[in-house]
Amino acid sequence: MDVEKSFRVEKTELMRSFLLTDQDQDALQRLEEFNHLMMKYHAVIREVTTKLEILNDEFSHSKRRNPIETISFRIKKPISIAQKLRRKGVPVAVDSIMSTLNDVAGIRVICSFVDDIYAVAEMLIQQDDVRLIEKKDYIQNPKPNGYRSLHLVLEVPVFFSTHKEPMRVEVQIRTVAMDFWASLEHQIRYKNHTAETRRIAGELKECADVIAQTDLRMQALRDEVMKQQE
Ligand code: GTP
Ligand code: MG
Repeated sequence: MDVEKSFRVEKTELMRSFLLTDQDQDALQRLEEFNHLMMKYHAVIREVTTKLEILNDEFSHSKRRNPIETISFRIKKPISIAQKLRRKGVPVAVDSIMSTLNDVAGIRVICSFVDDIYAVAEMLIQQDDVRLIEKKDYIQNPKPNGYRSLHLVLEVPVFFSTHKEPMRVEVQIRTVAMDFWASLEHQIRYKNHTAETRRIAGELKECADVIAQTDLRMQALRDEVMKQQE
């Protein structure tokens, strides 16, 4: 017996039994397409995360230390996807997502030292199935508020049952110190609705600059210790 057929409910039957309208049916169809697309973004996250883990393993094998401290990821929430599509002036539709947005899939890589960021980025970009779509270096050129990180938009082919598809993912690479600043700045900015906004922004910028100097001092210390070991 074909088990699948035995419990499969035909659309028309479901519509009749549950009094679904044509509109309901459209919504179900969109939900299906949306979930399918999110599955594909999850796939590219897994692929790129694996690439990063392999690089970290190899690096720690040859250089006896890990350039990557942690890797985390997120898939953009439906509400944020819709808001961004609206902001960009395109229809809020599943079809618009792939063609308009680069950051539905996001990976954050936290490195130990500043030069590890560039080493990891380079090792990733030079892989022959990885295409660099966009690079924003907020370390060389920090944002006016003090934000530092290296942002890459990558396109990587993902193999599905019948075809392969190039999928985009945004990779943010930063040091532990840059991440510390970014997450606290995010919390403070979110809660700050006072008249003191300008002073607070100024102090946040000062903190960012202190952190950037500290990052470079730590790197210099590491270099010094490594030289002594040689
Ligand atoms: P969107 O992608 O639409 O946000 O604009 P954009 O492309 O100009 O932004 P960008 O790629 O520069 O930065 C996007 C992401 O970087 C954000 O979602 C944050 O995760 C992070 N980011 C950028 N600027 C800041 C900042 O000032 N503070 C913090 N905490 N995070 C930031
Ligand atoms: Mg962006």
